[in-house]
Amino acid sequence: MRVQLWQFLWAAIVILLNPLQTYAVKEYLFKKCDQSGFCSRNRHFATEVTKQGLDYNSRYSIDLPSLIIKDDEGYFDAKILKELNDGSHVDLSLHVSLLSGNNLRFQINEVNRKTEQSLIQDKRYDEASKWAFVKEPELIPFQHELSSDQLILTYGEHYEAKFDFHPFKLTLLYKGVPSLIVNDRNLLNVEHYRTRKQEDEENSIHIAPEESTFDAYKDSFKDSKGDTLPLGPESVALDFTFANSLTVYGIPEHADTMSLKDTTDGEPYRLFNVDIFEYLTQSRLPMYGSIPFMLSTNSKHSSGLFWVNSADTYIDIKKVHKVEADEKKVIPEETQSQRVQTHWMSENGIVDVILFVKDSPHEVTQAYASITGNTQLPNLFSLGYHQSRWNYNDEPDVLDINSKFDQHQIPYDTIWLDVEYTDERKYFTWEPKMFPNPDRMLSKLAETGRYLVALIDPHLKIGYEVSNVVEKQNIGYRKSDNSSSFHGHCWPGESVWIDTFNPAAQSFWNKLHAVGSNFMGQAQNLFPWNDMSEPSVFDGPETTAPKDIIHYGNWEHRSVHNLNGLTFHEATYKALIAHNNNIRPFILTRAFFSGSQRTAAMWTGDNMAKWEYVQASISQVLTLNIAGYPFCGADVAGFFGNPEPELLVRFYQTGIWYPFFRGHAHIDSRRHEPWVAGGEYTDIMRDTIKLRYKLLPLLYTEFYKSSQVGSPIVNPIFFLYPEDEQNYDIDDEFFFGKSLLVKPITEQGQTETLVYLPDDKIYYDFEDYTPYQGKGYHSFNAPLSKIPVLLKAGTIIPTKQRYRRSSKLMKFDPYTLYLTADSDGTASGELYIDDGETFNAQNDNDFSIE
Ligand code: NOJ
Repeated sequence: MRVQLWQFLWAAIVILLNPLQTYAVKEYLFKKCDQSGFCSRNRHFATEVTKQGLDYNSRYSIDLPSLIIKDDEGYFDAKILKELNDGSHVDLSLHVSLLSGNNLRFQINEVNRKTEQSLIQDKRYDEASKWAFVKEPELIPFQHELSSDQLILTYGEHYEAKFDFHPFKLTLLYKGVPSLIVNDRNLLNVEHYRTRKQEDEENSIHIAPEESTFDAYKDSFKDSKGDTLPLGPESVALDFTFANSLTVYGIPEHADTMSLKDTTDGEPYRLFNVDIFEYLTQSRLPMYGSIPFMLSTNSKHSSGLFWVNSADTYIDIKKVHKVEADEKKVIPEETQSQRVQTHWMSENGIVDVILFVKDSPHEVTQAYASITGNTQLPNLFSLGYHQSRWNYNDEPDVLDINSKFDQHQIPYDTIWLDVEYTDERKYFTWEPKMFPNPDRMLSKLAETGRYLVALIDPHLKIGYEVSNVVEKQNIGYRKSDNSSSFHGHCWPGESVWIDTFNPAAQSFWNKLHAVGSNFMGQAQNLFPWNDMSEPSVFDGPETTAPKDIIHYGNWEHRSVHNLNGLTFHEATYKALIAHNNNIRPFILTRAFFSGSQRTAAMWTGDNMAKWEYVQASISQVLTLNIAGYPFCGADVAGFFGNPEPELLVRFYQTGIWYPFFRGHAHIDSRRHEPWVAGGEYTDIMRDTIKLRYKLLPLLYTEFYKSSQVGSPIVNPIFFLYPEDEQNYDIDDEFFFGKSLLVKPITEQGQTETLVYLPDDKIYYDFEDYTPYQGKGYHSFNAPLSKIPVLLKAGTIIPTKQRYRRSSKLMKFDPYTLYLTADSDGTASGELYIDDGETFNAQNDNDFSIE
């Protein structure tokens, strides 16, 4: 095809005039399922098994003679036999334990795996739980009934777990009703170790005919850059059916709807932490973080599953609608009802799963949090407004921004410095001309009660004092042949990466964050921002580290990939605690895994100044809250691009409800701090940010509760009203806490919206107290200055009304309570108060009012 000159010029003009349109995720950088060996094999396997239907004879069965049952100690062990083509078996171990809270855990591993290579461990990676769990769960006793083909455990008041021996299957019943079924579709697949010779010569014996032999030893993805698979095929996969339900939620991070979609005709959802700048909305592509936790609900009960695996993972979802039996067709009872079938596939590691079944979604999320930990009560300043951009240039710029907030009477707590504050992008240094005296700058900020957050990434430019120590002490990632440190490219050019899986890295990390160190100086108001720890490697496959490089403990990166970000921000957390164990650290991370919520806040990375990203941010935040990670937010008003004033204002009106609220922008975007738009726009943004500050006592109280019981801060409607299936898909409206119903405006030109009231209580417009009543949709006027916010009758919320420059300066201000009587004349609410920054209250002198 010949391109005419005029066509070329026209395209160039369009691009120049409209720089936003040039942004788009480079989708081709990221593997689709059919470009990923283990995903294609398992999907292919699923298709074959499903085709054969009842004729399929599963290869996996529990070996009855091997059963050892310890009712009183809360576990049983058995062998699972995997049958090969020649009739021989591979032995797998099955360990089932009952955890306090009536959660059931099971692990399937390969027994005595001996491989042909010596650089990495022989055994499968089984340490994901060590990082993800807050502590080793306690076990509870059970009763059992054993027959020749089934073992039934009963525990708690309402639980029964039925294990069928052939084929292996687990049905979990709650109050007599099946809720979760494991290996319902016989998709269990543990690709046992085989030597390359066996693979080449004898694969008719060792590979089941259902498994294709796609790329077993070499990653042939076009971007793989020579990445190898020294152990060959070693994936684990299993299916889970959520009975009596059509909706599932969770498995962040994706920029999709809150209610997850059926993937039958498309890509599975993928969990693989990557630097996916310019990401798409409505997409199942992987993003920066991974929480392999899924939740489902129906009007009677809710269930969840936690797939404790840190390798590359794909998840297929199939929604099966109710089938009505007719006279001609007799349909077995278990296939009549609606259900969601899910298929989990991980590249390696073990099968380690926890199942939760409860009365409500809230309880399931809290049960998951009881395993992985609650969000720490944040340092109060971090709940205020954060002002960031890439970059504030120098000390005068920082102090100018600081005083502009005061001139415009807009409260804020924290200013941020992105990568350019460093000397040649060498972390733990300050650019000497731009920031000649960081202590002086920090103390000026402290005078107005403000904080500074500065970027510290895990890649360290080669050849300076910090990276030299990493190389010398051998505390960085190692090359796949273990000969020396792995080198790759990131912001500073050629870099090494600190390996925070290595305990020896911790003491060095502590020194770098010590009071009096080059980075920290003497300041008390400086905290780190940990970015790029997926890890982002610009010249690596899928913009991350090759999967064959080696971490501490001789584990391949493949096994631990999704944990990397968690180990990094945990190391930073420990370093801050090492120097002051009485100040609650604040750290922001982009990469995360289950358990990250204990030590860092997260944000959703590089979004865009477009309406669809405002919309997506709400479902992203709701999904993170469902998945036990409430301290989350998105860049306001979009990282890439220049938001027009209406979008800017509506983004702020949405952002004040994110538990973490930060304005941030790309280096190429124009400045758009709240005073830049001017006039009416600035007035509205001022009022909007002030509303966030008024509500800080409510937000802090919600965080306190979350820190105690693992509850969400921002609640999807279905979390509080699970009995009403009508609200299961609502992801543009939510409860902030449990009393404020919010529906931000997220469409251009919109000045009216429909707000769904989930019950028959009275809801009062939070601005003028107009009452609304009646379950269902109500029309609500929302001119640019208005956010639809309603206060539910029967609740009390605490606020502070005085304008101050920052949250610190509000400390001794009086509280104003909003009380709305219920139909019986009562109202209730909570208030938690402490000093806002130390751990003292956790020890003894906290108080709360109910
Ligand atoms: C990537 C982050 O997502 C973005 O927020 C930051 O500004 C850049 N890194 C530069 O550090």
